[in-house]
Amino acid sequence: MIYIEYAQNHYLNLSVIIKSNLYLLQNQKKINMRFFRFLLLNVVALFISTSTLTAQDGGMWIPSLVKQLNIDDMQEMGLELTADDLYSINNSSVKDAIVHFGGGCTAEMISNQGLMLTNHHCGYGEIQAHSTLENNYLKDGFWAKNRDEELENPGLTATFIIRIEDVTNAVLSGVIAEMNEDERSAQISKNIATLNSGLEKEESQDVKVKSFFDGNQYFAFITETYKDVRLVGAPPSMIGKFGSDTDNWVWPRHTGDFSMFRIYASEDNKPAEYSEKNVPYQPKHFLPISLDGVEEGDFTMVYGFPGRTQEYLPSVAIKQLKEVINSARIEIRNKALKIVDKEMRADEGIKIQYASKYARIANYWKKWIGENKGLEASQAVVKREKYEAELMEKINSDSVSKVKYGNLLSDFDKSYAEFEKYNLANNFYSEIVYRNVEVLRLSYILNSFVNKYEEAGDKGDEYFKSKKPRIDSYLKGFYKNYNSEVDKKVFATLLQEYVEGVDKSFLPEYLLDEVDDYKNNYTKMADKVFAKSALINDTDMFMLLSKSPSSVIAKIKKDPAYKIGVSIINAYNAKVEPKYSEINAEIKKLQRTYMAAQIEMMPNKKFYPDANSTLRITWGKVDGYEPKDGVYYYPKTYLDGIMEKYVPGDYEFNVPEKLRKIYDEKDFGIYAENGKIPVGFIGTNHTTGGNSGSPALDAHGNLIGLNFDRVWEGTMSDINYDANICRNIMVDVKYILFIIDKYGDAKYLIDEMKLVRPKTTLIVD
Ligand code: ARG
Ligand code: GLU
Repeated sequence: MIYIEYAQNHYLNLSVIIKSNLYLLQNQKKINMRFFRFLLLNVVALFISTSTLTAQDGGMWIPSLVKQLNIDDMQEMGLELTADDLYSINNSSVKDAIVHFGGGCTAEMISNQGLMLTNHHCGYGEIQAHSTLENNYLKDGFWAKNRDEELENPGLTATFIIRIEDVTNAVLSGVIAEMNEDERSAQISKNIATLNSGLEKEESQDVKVKSFFDGNQYFAFITETYKDVRLVGAPPSMIGKFGSDTDNWVWPRHTGDFSMFRIYASEDNKPAEYSEKNVPYQPKHFLPISLDGVEEGDFTMVYGFPGRTQEYLPSVAIKQLKEVINSARIEIRNKALKIVDKEMRADEGIKIQYASKYARIANYWKKWIGENKGLEASQAVVKREKYEAELMEKINSDSVSKVKYGNLLSDFDKSYAEFEKYNLANNFYSEIVYRNVEVLRLSYILNSFVNKYEEAGDKGDEYFKSKKPRIDSYLKGFYKNYNSEVDKKVFATLLQEYVEGVDKSFLPEYLLDEVDDYKNNYTKMADKVFAKSALINDTDMFMLLSKSPSSVIAKIKKDPAYKIGVSIINAYNAKVEPKYSEINAEIKKLQRTYMAAQIEMMPNKKFYPDANSTLRITWGKVDGYEPKDGVYYYPKTYLDGIMEKYVPGDYEFNVPEKLRKIYDEKDFGIYAENGKIPVGFIGTNHTTGGNSGSPALDAHGNLIGLNFDRVWEGTMSDINYDANICRNIMVDVKYILFIIDKYGDAKYLIDEMKLVRPKTTLIVD
């Protein structure tokens, strides 16, 4: 008998490996050969890797493959469930409690009556939409006292995953190496269209095919999307956003980042548009909630929809991202945020209007700063170079792989060098036109309206009339949260950044002439432009729009803010976009080959695909970390920490009076642990944006917390996961229950949940 030795002196019978491979061989005949080989290698890797190794490497794994790839590792680390408990297409499983919330966040079912939990920052837009100065749910919180008080949210969706299918063969059918990228994607689109119509599904379901491993593998997701999702409860921002931007991405953390919704369905439990006749949705599975609390070392897993990671980049890409792109984006947002922050602090109305926009912009600004620091501290570029050297050695040691992959890294170097100025300009453009200067974003939208009107020729008026209601409703939303004084300052500052930061040859002449006319005085230019533009106030704009189509179009085209916007858009489209897309396509192709090369050349390494907004499982344990020499961060925080951070009247660290009273009276009910209320905890789960609102589960699949953030020192985990320092941040479910019950007086919501004590196996409910 042959034994393979692996780390920590575990031994393993090789015949088991061979048997499993045969099993795979028989059952995976349809998998295309390249991927078959890859899966095979992964199975071998499964047997030779250890749980510690897995935890070290991080990973966001595909639920339908857990059975083949991960279940042993997970169980070894403490999981008490089977792979079928986590993901099954025949029986209900944990998967059926996981929701893609509004397409961006994750949420989970916590009762059999459609009750759904997600983060406060995920429900923020909805909470804000229902808020006014008089009825300010952002400020005061909101608790529907009964089903009739739950609030409708047009456009908000909740999507479940029915099943996941490997469709690589079908998608890559007819794709050959000789094809260029256009031919390749045309063939793939054609295959996907055929697949979409052929896959078995119910009428209420949809199919989405997604690429994995940079286009080396494809999976189809059969989904079901519910459209009547109502707001049930949210704590005040003083709790739900406690610590705000100062504490964002930071541990130790004390944010009660949760909100609750309810999914409604038709009488037969199917998706339906909002209707009073709809009834609470009955999920196939909902999560029991653990009252036993978490301790350092406990097994945890996070089940959700991570958005995007780039774990397999070449070092040259990491370098460019860090030194060129992140630095520029950080600088642009620095400037914009400073202006908006000042205005928000001075005016309560502006604060409501800009709170959500500010938080969104500040969020990634701070993340990129942490990411850059983390990349530096973890020596990401140097490490990646070392990894590349090892990889190249393997590649070059074999004449076949040398031909296939020998030039990859030098090709990357060439492409990224050429890419740099386009990449930078592209980021400037999206930061300035799409994100930070609101009047430019409006110009962008009006510009496509104007263009389509003109393209329509004789049919222009018809087009105008058909689109006008949508423009009107967009504008209503736009002006509700618009303050032209704020935008004017951002406009002046960021246009200067644009002119000074973007390659001269990419800049629009019209803008340069204007800047010249105002002798580089951007403030003066902004004053003039804003004084004369109709775009910056609703009365003028709606007045303008009430005219005949041709005069509306003519007036928009003469508007000074619009003219600046359009000059930037046109220059970008002519001078940046084509080349940007061309090089980007080259890089994508290289990345696809590079990914395949890594998988092929490193048969002992287990690979997980980069996040792509599809359902994943990641696991780890509750664990502290050392952010710097001599400092250790414990993995749990308590209500006491909120009182330590409390700054009366502060807009980030104020604590509501009622919570202070409960704290003083120690009215903690069943939620206390040794006389204290737990608030947050961290773990080694590998998460990213999109995992917000994801359930943190214990070894039995009970809810123990809600993922909402990562620690700042570890935000580089999207590019370079390092288990020593990367931690995800979760709000303890006991804090959530405590706030609902003791602060919100909404115990009736807790009554519909299922509370359990897995550590003592006593059901409380
Ligand atoms: N950093 C978390 C995430 O990426 C939370 C963001 C919301 N909170 C905030 N203060 N902006 O989404
Ligand atoms: N807050 C993030 C989100 O909205 C999760 C934090 C992260 O990026 O890990 O998804």
